[in-house]
Amino acid sequence: MVDKHGRRMRKLRISLLDACNLRCLYCMPESPVFMPQKDWASAKDLLHITRNLVALGIEEIRLTGGEPLMRRDFVEIVDALSTLPVKTLGLTTNALLLAPYLSMLQHTQLQQLNISLDSLDAKNFKRITRRDALGTVTDAIHTAKALGFTIKINTVVMKGVNDHELPAFVAWSAVHDIPVRFLEVMNIGVMKSQFRERFLSAFDMKAMLKADYRFSKLNDVVDSTSRNFRVSNGAKIGFITSESSPFCTGCSRLRLTPKGQIRPCLFMQEGIDLKSLAPEDYPKALATIIAMKPVGRIPHQPQPMYQIGG
Ligand code: 5AD
Ligand code: SF4
Repeated sequence: MVDKHGRRMRKLRISLLDACNLRCLYCMPESPVFMPQKDWASAKDLLHITRNLVALGIEEIRLTGGEPLMRRDFVEIVDALSTLPVKTLGLTTNALLLAPYLSMLQHTQLQQLNISLDSLDAKNFKRITRRDALGTVTDAIHTAKALGFTIKINTVVMKGVNDHELPAFVAWSAVHDIPVRFLEVMNIGVMKSQFRERFLSAFDMKAMLKADYRFSKLNDVVDSTSRNFRVSNGAKIGFITSESSPFCTGCSRLRLTPKGQIRPCLFMQEGIDLKSLAPEDYPKALATIIAMKPVGRIPHQPQPMYQIGG
């Protein structure tokens, strides 16, 4: 699964559903319309699809959404995917429903948790996510850490909303020994109308922190989406520069939509339904998808983020 630009497809991002129990300002309208549950690829479909993709070179799988833990068959899905020979199985979650799952997840292949946390202040958390849930999320993070999961925090930074919390996040990362990655907000879906007002580049984020902290660059793998640093206070911080410096040239990722359609890129709506495809037809379908992968950032994606997966 290597394309003509030398990019080897080895990561798969599976969006399990579009629904979510938060309404983050940059992701969802206040009253979103979600797809009917009957459209979701079943646990059985997902195992069929991923098994065939793993046979062709996928070695890292991440479950995302919407909010993946809202699927009632989540445990069944994780158990099924845990039977596959992959290097890592990860979950991107807002952690609202995470705590009750942790003891069960401990005994599966799923050991990497990327947790969205955009504010350390209860009021601001509520402003951003439109739900009053900071304590639930931080409690789940600390429990997961104590149980030995590998955790990364994803923080979407917006000018005038949570950029003043950057130093607090750097301090928090050091105190709790948990890496935090600051994401540039992307010009996608509901963000399109406020993008100019809210966008803050990673360069500007770093500039805001430079007075108080020194950064030393860590070595990143070629297909890493974040540029990572060790900070002078001991924190591990990354920047995801989706807008200011897109990582398309090193991209090794394919996406699966909740309906079981494989897509070449977050910014493309074209794809191929893999649910009913026979194993022998996968190589050709994948060749088609990989050939569609753009080499530079596509400017327009009208489809909102929650429908394609963060
Ligand atoms: N810009 C950047 N990240 C976004 N996410 C959702 N919408 C956007 C956006 N407009 C991210 C969330 C989460 C993941 C599911 O997707 O913050 O980390
Ligand atoms: Fe839900 Fe994540 Fe979107 Fe927030 S960013 S509304 S947690 S899917």
